[in-house]
Amino acid sequence: MTALAPDHHLPVLWHEAVDALQPKSGGRYADGTFGGGGHTRLLLERSAPDGRVIAFDLDQAAIERGKTLDAGDRLILVNASFATMYQAAQAADMLPLDGVLLDLGFSSFQIDDPSRGFSLRHDGPLDMRFDRLSGPTAAGLVNELDERSLADLIWRYGEDRNARRIAAAIVRTRAIESIQTTAQLAVVVERVTGRARGRIHPATRTFQALRIATHDELQALETALDAAVAALAVGGRLAVISFHSLEDRIVKQFIARQSATCVCPPEQPVCTCDTVPSLRPVGKAIKPTENEIERNPRSRSAIMRVAERVAERDPVCP
Ligand SMILES: C[S@@+](CC[C@H](N)C(=O)[O-])C[C@H]1O[C@@H](n2cnc3c(N)ncnc32)[C@H](O)[C@@H]1O
Repeated sequence: MTALAPDHHLPVLWHEAVDALQPKSGGRYADGTFGGGGHTRLLLERSAPDGRVIAFDLDQAAIERGKTLDAGDRLILVNASFATMYQAAQAADMLPLDGVLLDLGFSSFQIDDPSRGFSLRHDGPLDMRFDRLSGPTAAGLVNELDERSLADLIWRYGEDRNARRIAAAIVRTRAIESIQTTAQLAVVVERVTGRARGRIHPATRTFQALRIATHDELQALETALDAAVAALAVGGRLAVISFHSLEDRIVKQFIARQSATCVCPPEQPVCTCDTVPSLRPVGKAIKPTENEIERNPRSRSAIMRVAERVAERDPVCP
């Protein structure tokens, strides 16, 4: 199999994530976020000779890279959201799955390419779409949303306490000239917050908020988590790597809900809820080692949670 350039995008928690899925020959896996293909490649290696992977990416360029992997019919590439995982795996006759991996966010290929508009460090068009053929661009949102919707978006998805002031500054600026580049937007935010001093640029949260809104990322994640539970075989594993607290909160709460054995109010003496868990958490949340962060500073905010599909049985509450 062709080695697929993990040196361009260093996969985060590379071995940890693949180990968590316990790949085996003949296994069937979904990689919801193909990116540079590092995790998929290791999954294929570790499930050789006949394990199969169905891999998703919204980005056409990622799918094209995947075609160079030369894995024959062991790899199916799907240029669609991971939210479609269940239907796509069913259509490919891959159900039930033995493992599902989601490595959220963007790849180095995307952030290092100024024409994609993800980066604060390189000026480029304010695009931020993973799928370059559809959906609103970040510039579309910045120039068309009303001030209140912009403020809500920056607050909700960026958790930026300056959200209202940033939204007002955007609206003032775009009344004079439309905001079309990453540098223009960064300057508007800096006018509100003051210039970048530390390692984190003051517009980072605004950029995060726009990226999440451009793809409705949090809704897609919720849909994919439900799809993963429906698609997994008993004993199959789900591993999700998140890069900010909004994503991680969704994953953590999802696993807690799906592994709850009783949701009755604590003061109720006898359980009446008939809750049946579908997942069991596996170990604690995993973070990159100091060593990995030193080699790949982009991994520093990563956190991985793992859960295993359990048999749906009769309610376990007394
Ligand atoms: C962090 S990278 C994945 C890196 C990959 N694990 C590797 O080893 O190279 C995330 C990828 O997920 C893709 N992506 C983000 N949201 C998506 C979604 N809803 N559906 C499918 N792909 C998505 C992005 O385009 C990006 O290529």
